[in-house]
Amino acid sequence: MSTFTEPAPTATALLLLGRGSDPQSEKGVDCPGELPPASDPNLVERATAAKKALGDRLFVLGHHYQRDEVIQFADVTGDSFKLAQQAAARPNAEFIVFCGVHFMAESADILTTDDQAVVLPDLAAGCSMADMAARQQVDECWDTLTDIGISDDVVPVTYMNSSADIKAFVGKHGGLVCTSSNAKRALDWAYQQGRKVLFLPDQHLGRNTAVLQLGFDLADCVTYNPHKPQGGLSAQELQDAKMILWRGHCSVHGRFTLDSVNDMRRRVPDVNILVHPECTHEVVNAADHVGSTEYIIKKLQAAPAGSSWAIGTELNLVRRLAHQHPDKQVMFLDKTICYCSTMNRIDLPHLVWSLEELVAGRVPNKISVDSDTSHHAKVALDRMLALP
Ligand code: 13P
Ligand code: SF4
Repeated sequence: MSTFTEPAPTATALLLLGRGSDPQSEKGVDCPGELPPASDPNLVERATAAKKALGDRLFVLGHHYQRDEVIQFADVTGDSFKLAQQAAARPNAEFIVFCGVHFMAESADILTTDDQAVVLPDLAAGCSMADMAARQQVDECWDTLTDIGISDDVVPVTYMNSSADIKAFVGKHGGLVCTSSNAKRALDWAYQQGRKVLFLPDQHLGRNTAVLQLGFDLADCVTYNPHKPQGGLSAQELQDAKMILWRGHCSVHGRFTLDSVNDMRRRVPDVNILVHPECTHEVVNAADHVGSTEYIIKKLQAAPAGSSWAIGTELNLVRRLAHQHPDKQVMFLDKTICYCSTMNRIDLPHLVWSLEELVAGRVPNKISVDSDTSHHAKVALDRMLALP
C-alpha cells in the first residue's frame, strides 16, 4: 500500500521549518565551542563512539517529535509524561541528555538528584506555548482572583509545557502538573480539592479535557487574557466560571483546522482522524480519536492493516509512523508542512557536540533550576506522578 505523501512546503511551512522562526522561544544562545558541520559524514560514527565511551554514565531521552537522526540515539523515547518518569527512575546516570525542549529538561532536573547533570543539546530549544505564561503575569492573575474573592476556591493546574517558575507557583498554591496523557485524572484530583481550576498555559488542552472528558459546558469555561486588565473578564464571569483557561496555545497544533478535517473526510471517506489534544476544540470535537503522542503511537500499532489514518500532530512523528506502518495509509492532517521549529533545533551536530563535550570532561548546556523553585515545582510534579 502506498503510504505517506509529504505535504508541499508552502512559504508559511518553510517559515515554521526555518531556524530562528520562533522568536518567543529563541533565547539568543548559540552553541559555544566547536559545532560539527551538518555535512560531516562521520556524525553517526562520532555519536556512537561518544555514547560508547560514556557507557552507563549517560542516559539519552528522546521526545517523539525529535528528528530521526537524533531519535536513533535515544535510550528511551516517549511523551512528556513517560520521559519525566524515566528521568526520575535513573538515579545512577551521571548525565541525562534530553533531546526535547527546555521545559522538559527543567522537569528532568527537578526530578533527578543534585549529583546528576541534565543537558539540553541546544539551549534555543524552547516552547512558544510555555513562553505564553510568565510568572509575573500569573502572580497578577492570582492577585485579581484574590481581589474578587475567589482564589481560595481555585486550584491551579499547569500543563507540563510551562516553565519551572510556573510549576513552582502551582506547587505553592496547592495545585499540580498534568500532561496530555493524564489531564483528566489531574482535573479530577483538582476538583476534589476546590470548586474551580485555573488551567495554565494551554487553553485547548484545558477546554478539551473539561468539555469532552469531564462533561462541562463550554459556558463553564472562560478564557483569561493576561494582556488585558482582569484578564478581559468581568468579576461576575470569573465568579461563575468552573474553569479559568489561560490564553495560551501551541502554534504547531493551531494549524489544524475544521476545514482540514472535513477536506480529509471528503477525500478519504473511511479515514480515522487522530489528533493531539493541543488542537482547537472544534478540531478535537470533529476527530475520531484524541490523545498524547504516546497514545497516537499505540493507536497506530493496534490498527488493522489496510486502515487509513490522518494524524494531527507534529510532522517528524507522523512521518516516522508512516515509515513504521507501510501496511496502513498514514497521512498528515494538514496540507502544509508543520514541524515544531524548536524541537527541530536539536539536530545531530548539537547531539554530537554535547556528547563529545561530556567525553572531554566538560558539561555543556547544563539545565539547573534553583533550589527554591525546584522544591515547589517538585511538589506539583510529585502530585502528578502520584495520580492513580
Ligand atoms: P506529549 O506529552 O503528548 O508528548 O506532548 C508534548 C508536546 O509538546 C506536544 O506539543
Ligand atoms: Fe511547544 Fe507546540 Fe512545540 Fe509542543 S509542538 S514543544 S507545545 S511549540
